[in-house]
Amino acid sequence: MLRIRSRCRIIISTSRSSFQTSTNKFSTHFERKLEGKVAVITGAASGIGKETAAKFIKHGAKVIVADIQRQLGQETASELGENATFVPCDVTNESHLSEVVDFAVSKHGQLDIMYNNAGVACRTPLSIVDTDLAQFDRVMAINVRGVMAGIKHAARVMIPRGSGCILCTGSVTGVMGGLAQPTYSTTKSCVIGIVRSVTGELCKHGIRINCISPFAVPTAFSLDEMKEYFPGVEPQDLAKMIYNASELKGAYCEPTDVANAALFLASADAKFISGQNLVVDGGFTSFKSLNFSHLVQ
Ligand SMILES: NC(=O)c1ccc[n+]([C@@H]2O[C@H](COP(=O)([O-])OP(=O)(O)OC[C@H]3O[C@@H](n4cnc5c(N)ncnc54)[C@H](O)[C@@H]3O)[C@@H](O)[C@H]2O)c1
Repeated sequence: MLRIRSRCRIIISTSRSSFQTSTNKFSTHFERKLEGKVAVITGAASGIGKETAAKFIKHGAKVIVADIQRQLGQETASELGENATFVPCDVTNESHLSEVVDFAVSKHGQLDIMYNNAGVACRTPLSIVDTDLAQFDRVMAINVRGVMAGIKHAARVMIPRGSGCILCTGSVTGVMGGLAQPTYSTTKSCVIGIVRSVTGELCKHGIRINCISPFAVPTAFSLDEMKEYFPGVEPQDLAKMIYNASELKGAYCEPTDVANAALFLASADAKFISGQNLVVDGGFTSFKSLNFSHLVQ
């Protein structure tokens, strides 16, 4: 039951998603921004992908949860309800991405949104001198090749329809150096680059493509990596460390902030936005401070 205390009397309408004031001077309407849309989200079994799947469904979409983790993916889809379907998918395997796209079309008749979100951290040494190139190839295969293949197969079904929206998860580490190991940073720079490199062609077919680059968010992804750097520190304290790195006073980056950016870019609100990298970082990558030291007499 919705209870709102205010000076004007509120009447709850019979509609599921709206209420109106008794004077009818204005109405507050929960607009379902993705009504009837069909989305595939890779890496949606947990973290940012799961949060985005929940948000898309709340806004009227049907979502294919595509993830390499079978049990977790299944549990996530059950938790998200009847508008979510889990399809096992390893993004390093092109045929898996092809199949998940075809599954969306055969089950729901179309694919409107492809969110290439799956990605892994890499616990390689910080110095370029110590870079393990086998590890580099492995992470590139997931974070970069997986995104390329996702875009390729989404475009395959979107081009004939002349519409669609593709999203990819980059990172602030792809915008600035020094925030992660060269391997991970390189993969995320590539994601931002891929988006720019295909925007022109996709524009000609009415398909928008954008990247979202989040700041650090305490998900399994970042917490597992932090555990290695700070053994013995409790997960809630590791999360606090991540939150404390925020430059924006009174706010920190949560999965919902990234999901909100994805919802905006996937919706008609962003109908003229393509080829962009939307950085969700509370201003972090926009400035550096000059820390003048005092003159020593
Ligand atoms: N958490 C952060 O601090 C942060 C910051 C910036 C960008 N990102 C990016 O956000 C994206 C989502 O990460 P998250 O933080 O939600 O982490 P997460 O670990 O919670 O989610 C990542 C998901 O990707 C899936 N996945 C991994 N390898 C896969 C593969 N080969 N095929 C299919 N699925 C696979 C995992 O099973 C997992 O469900 C990643 O691309 C990550 O690089 C994360």
